[in-house]
Amino acid sequence: MKQVLVTGGAGYIGTHTCVELLARGYTPVVVDNFVNSSPAALDRVRRLTNHELRSYEADVRDTARITEILKKHDCEAVIHFAGLKAVGDSVARPLDYYSANVIGTHSLLSAMMEAGTGRFVFSSSATVYGEPEFLPYTESHRLSPTNPYGQTKLSVELMLKDLVESGGMTDVAILRYFNPIGAHASGEIGEDPHGVPNNLMPFVAQVAVGRRPALNVFGNDYDTPDGTGVRDYLHVVDLARAHVLALERFEREPGAITVNLGTGHGTSVLELVSAFEAASGRKVPINFGPRRCGDIAAFWADPSQAEALLGWRAEYGLADMCRDQWAWQSQNPNGFELA
Ligand code: NAD
Ligand code: WQD
Repeated sequence: MKQVLVTGGAGYIGTHTCVELLARGYTPVVVDNFVNSSPAALDRVRRLTNHELRSYEADVRDTARITEILKKHDCEAVIHFAGLKAVGDSVARPLDYYSANVIGTHSLLSAMMEAGTGRFVFSSSATVYGEPEFLPYTESHRLSPTNPYGQTKLSVELMLKDLVESGGMTDVAILRYFNPIGAHASGEIGEDPHGVPNNLMPFVAQVAVGRRPALNVFGNDYDTPDGTGVRDYLHVVDLARAHVLALERFEREPGAITVNLGTGHGTSVLELVSAFEAASGRKVPINFGPRRCGDIAAFWADPSQAEALLGWRAEYGLADMCRDQWAWQSQNPNGFELA
């Protein structure tokens, strides 16, 4: 079976991608240090797919261990989710982000070279673009991150570019995610952030389920239709499926690609709250507060390159994302550990 190492596979996007990999005939092998997830999430994937999912508690910075796992499973590819992802946190502790995201990826690539694993799919981010010069963002937009987290993602992209140009690796897919939300329709897996959610959707869902009293809206004086921030939200299952398409592309057309993964549509904070209230039947009280430092008013993707190169386009709309997010949150009010 086509074994694929999935680093960070116990995380939000990793678990959803493992489900899609199994559905398409791949065999994921998970490596995770559980710094922002729990083994319980993998048990849910096993129950959901009726597959024994091999997993190892390990850090991608442990090059020898990762090499051993790659060789043991004769992995043909790696999908790399492992890393730290909170923008505000990266401002407070940048060295931890460079260690996990840049040194971690360097270690993983070194292990791949040693083990002879030649196909790599990387979780990049729209944060590499920074302040929009034009919208929607195309892949040729200037790359100018405004925070350490975005800098780490760009650093890895540059490392991959040089590795490909050196001839050290050929099959590299850089996937620039916009804002993934939602969950598997079963409600069995979903985003379970540790502590107070940084991101909008998990916070809204926790208000709706009664874990938090109200949503603080970070600014309603932006130059947007209703004054609140606009983002390109995409369903996490759509996002997961793009990773399978990237692996399948390697099989028919070797080479390196970079693509945006978004719907191509912008949604405001208030529009998302309204859609979530409709999907959940719950009221989400809001308070308007000051802008969040570092926030960009509005951005969304031009996803046409992903369609051209991967045959991918988002299938789910905002109502589907809210419906499925509510299925997860209402069935798991306290996430995995305390379900
Ligand atoms: P997540 O935190 O849910 O998953 C990341 C997983 O990696 C976690 O299970 C964590 O325990 C693990 N991990 C972290 N450091 C590790 C290390 N050194 N060794 C092994 N495991 C480690 O995050 P996610 O939302 O699933 O994001 C996955 C990837 O996608 C991240 O690289 C993130 O930067 C990127 N991304 C996420 C978003 C988003 O909005 N969720 C957007 C763009 C890009
Ligand atoms: C969306 C909108 C906020 C929370 C995130 C991650 C970043 C990156 C991309 C990995 C904004 C507003 C939010 C809240 C609010 N992920 N908001 N109240 O800003 O695009 O960045 O996705 O690459 O790490 O942070 O998404 O969900 O944080 O915010 O009003 O409690 O919701 O101002 O307009 P963002 P977000």
